[in-house]
Amino acid sequence: MSGPNTSFDPKQVSVLSANAVDGMVREACEAISAAATLAALKEVRIAHAGDRSPLALANREIGALPPAAKAEVGKRVGEARTVVKSALDDRQVSLEVERDERVLAEESVDVTLPAVREAVGGRHPLTTLIERVCDVFVAMGYDIAEGPEVEAEWVNFDALNVPPDHPARTMQDTFYVTSADSGVVLRTQTSPIQIRAMLERPLPIYVVAPGRVFRTDELDATHTPVFHQVEGLAVDENITMADLKGTLDHFAQAMFGEGIVTRLRPSYFPFTEPSAELDVQCFVCRGTSVGNPDQPCRTCGSEGWIEWGGCGMVNPRVLRAVGIDPMRYRGFAFGMGIERTLMFRNGVTDMRDMVEGDIRFTRAFGLES
Ligand code: DAH
Repeated sequence: MSGPNTSFDPKQVSVLSANAVDGMVREACEAISAAATLAALKEVRIAHAGDRSPLALANREIGALPPAAKAEVGKRVGEARTVVKSALDDRQVSLEVERDERVLAEESVDVTLPAVREAVGGRHPLTTLIERVCDVFVAMGYDIAEGPEVEAEWVNFDALNVPPDHPARTMQDTFYVTSADSGVVLRTQTSPIQIRAMLERPLPIYVVAPGRVFRTDELDATHTPVFHQVEGLAVDENITMADLKGTLDHFAQAMFGEGIVTRLRPSYFPFTEPSAELDVQCFVCRGTSVGNPDQPCRTCGSEGWIEWGGCGMVNPRVLRAVGIDPMRYRGFAFGMGIERTLMFRNGVTDMRDMVEGDIRFTRAFGLES
């Protein structure tokens, strides 16, 4: 419509006739009740109540009507639009209710269903034992030291005063990483961590060093090719063997109970001088089974003592190899097997139980964290 419609001719504006407007309302209402989803209703709203809907277009025609006709037609179109709008709103509400009911039904959780029980794993007793050992030494002011499992042969043997012809170096005991002359081994003991600690740390040194070690043993009840040791090392001025003995006694009591002491038996290790085998008093019979066949002790085999590890005063040759003046500094060192400790401490009779990863074994130690 390009100009004012001065002579009102209903034919020209047939979109505004009562019939036409009723038709638009009917069509809109049919589409509204046919809309089965909120998305469909949105389309219907655009088509029948949007800016370009027949009723909106009709509404625009009103401005061009002669004033006499405006009121009546305006009322008709206005009412029609109100009817459509409220039909849309009603449908919107009922579709939303339907959707909410469906979502509630589909997404409801049956809290009475039996739960899927996740088995809570237990930490491996070797791990908790290592942590316990570390705690004992950290409480005495020691640091925890670490070293690589793939180690230089020099650090694993030479620096520890293990001579080149020592039988432990042969292929029988040691895993060489590529060939026997590669100079690189899987560490056979945690003692190389002593060397690294002395090379890297300022004096004085007090470290405890747990770790995995490797030897070419077959897996059986008392051997495993991969096992764990813990090493202790103290280097300071005026360190004596009495310090070693006192430290080991304290360690033994922390692990096995009050009053349990240790015993040193003269022995030989290349990296200590003097060296000793370290025994711990049997914490089950406390020696009462010795010479007493009526009361045998399974833990110590009625010996009264249990072999626990090795120890000694750090050999001056080792101190010299890492550039420490043996005239000024002395040290003590000790080392023991963690698996062996777990065996007699907790009555584990077969080492294979420790490596097989059967949860029933681990669980027996509880869920200690
Ligand atoms: N490294 C030795 C071994 O595997 C154990 C040992 C003995 C460690 C004496 C020490 C020590 O620190 O002083 O058999």
